[in-house]
Amino acid sequence: MFIRRIAVVGTGYVGLTTGACLASLGHRVVCADVDPDKIARLSRGEVDILEPRLAELVAEGLAAGRLSFVLGAKAAVVPADADSAAEIVFLCVPTPMGVGGVADLGSVEAVLAEITDVLAPDTVVVNKSTVPVGTADRTLELLGREDVAVVSNPEFLREGSAVEDFLKPDRIVVGSRSQDAAERVAALYSRLGAPTVLTDAASAELVKYSANCFLAMKLSYVNAMAELCERLGADIGDVTEGMGYDRRIGQSYLKPGPGWGGSCLPKDTRAMLQIADSADFEFRLLRAAIDTNERQRQRIVDKVRQAVTGRRSGTLSHARLGLLGLTFKAHTDDLRDSPALAVAAMLRQDGAELVAYDPALSADTAHPGLESISVVEDPELAAKDVDALVVLTEWPQFRSLDWPRLAELTRQPVVVDTRNLIDPDVLARAGFRWDGLGRG
Ligand code: UGA
Repeated sequence: MFIRRIAVVGTGYVGLTTGACLASLGHRVVCADVDPDKIARLSRGEVDILEPRLAELVAEGLAAGRLSFVLGAKAAVVPADADSAAEIVFLCVPTPMGVGGVADLGSVEAVLAEITDVLAPDTVVVNKSTVPVGTADRTLELLGREDVAVVSNPEFLREGSAVEDFLKPDRIVVGSRSQDAAERVAALYSRLGAPTVLTDAASAELVKYSANCFLAMKLSYVNAMAELCERLGADIGDVTEGMGYDRRIGQSYLKPGPGWGGSCLPKDTRAMLQIADSADFEFRLLRAAIDTNERQRQRIVDKVRQAVTGRRSGTLSHARLGLLGLTFKAHTDDLRDSPALAVAAMLRQDGAELVAYDPALSADTAHPGLESISVVEDPELAAKDVDALVVLTEWPQFRSLDWPRLAELTRQPVVVDTRNLIDPDVLARAGFRWDGLGRG
């Protein structure tokens, strides 16, 4: 295997995982960021992202001299202490949702402007961020260099298992108009032994959106089926298990919940609608998945209202609710576009007083939407004098809470489990009334 000199621009989830994992595969990696404090912390091996094994890989890379952190993209492309410039430059900067759902490429453009003059001939610039179809061509244009190639190599990392997903990928997707550049990028991953799709840049860019949108549709389908199960007296757990043994469907990504969220699925589904719109294609299937997801949040609020007041409509004023989990999924401290927070905001709007416990958050965690929630660091405090406990994130440790003790602390022993996480028998034995999703 060739050892490559690699620059990674951006040290968020994707960039830091990419940098640390490529270094662990033996490559020499310099990671850049615009935040000097972050660079100083990372250079000392301090990782502030909650991600299994990431800190360990960063420490190993630093100790082996294969991984370093510098301020600014230019310094990563032409490191002061290296004898040659980067051969491959990964762009891992954020592409947030801009006006009308279109991905905002401001950070990508700023980096390109900074590095174009210092790229060595034959450098490959790799887009890892999720970017609209056509960005590879636009990148080439912005670089204005005939002697540099651009490759799209989307990432499929999930928060909470990013390192595992990187090192044991289901597939590697590499697209470019330059076959040679695509093969050089694919070769970086050769040790991983994953199926590799070599294609054009537009197809590679679309794979990422297409995969995330398909996952979102799968989840909206499951949430819709859960509602149907309730009406028909069927059990969604058994229905999805029965479906999932079909190898064409698979068991994963079939759990109902308060709706899908996080920093990727909502953004990418919106962006895909825009992409379709600009191609004059009305993507009704995807639109319905997004609408179903928004409706799901209201459905959860109605369930809570029903459980607390016995009615599906009306106010929740005078109700005190204990929320278990606020992050968008378990094993992360990420609150961006969290369905739990969206549900909390609606409950608050209906007049409920909210207290919440989440293993990844502390009483002084700051995030938009948290101002109106009292975050406590002990689940018992979240149960004290509440009219219902609402499970919103699937933290496995919630299963082994002392449920009989929690029941004693509540004003009314009621649980609304939006993740079907806790065994209903355990709750019944503890004295709780219970409602979940799709358990007719
Ligand atoms: C998602 C994709 O899964 C990754 O493949 C992709 O690389 C990433 O977006 C990205 O674009 O960067 P992530 O946002 O980390 O990863 O989260 P997921 O694990 O996909 O979960 C998304 C949402 O679906 C969460 O709110 C989660 O709770 C929900 N979910 C997931 C369910 O409600 N049920 C399930 O069975 C699975």
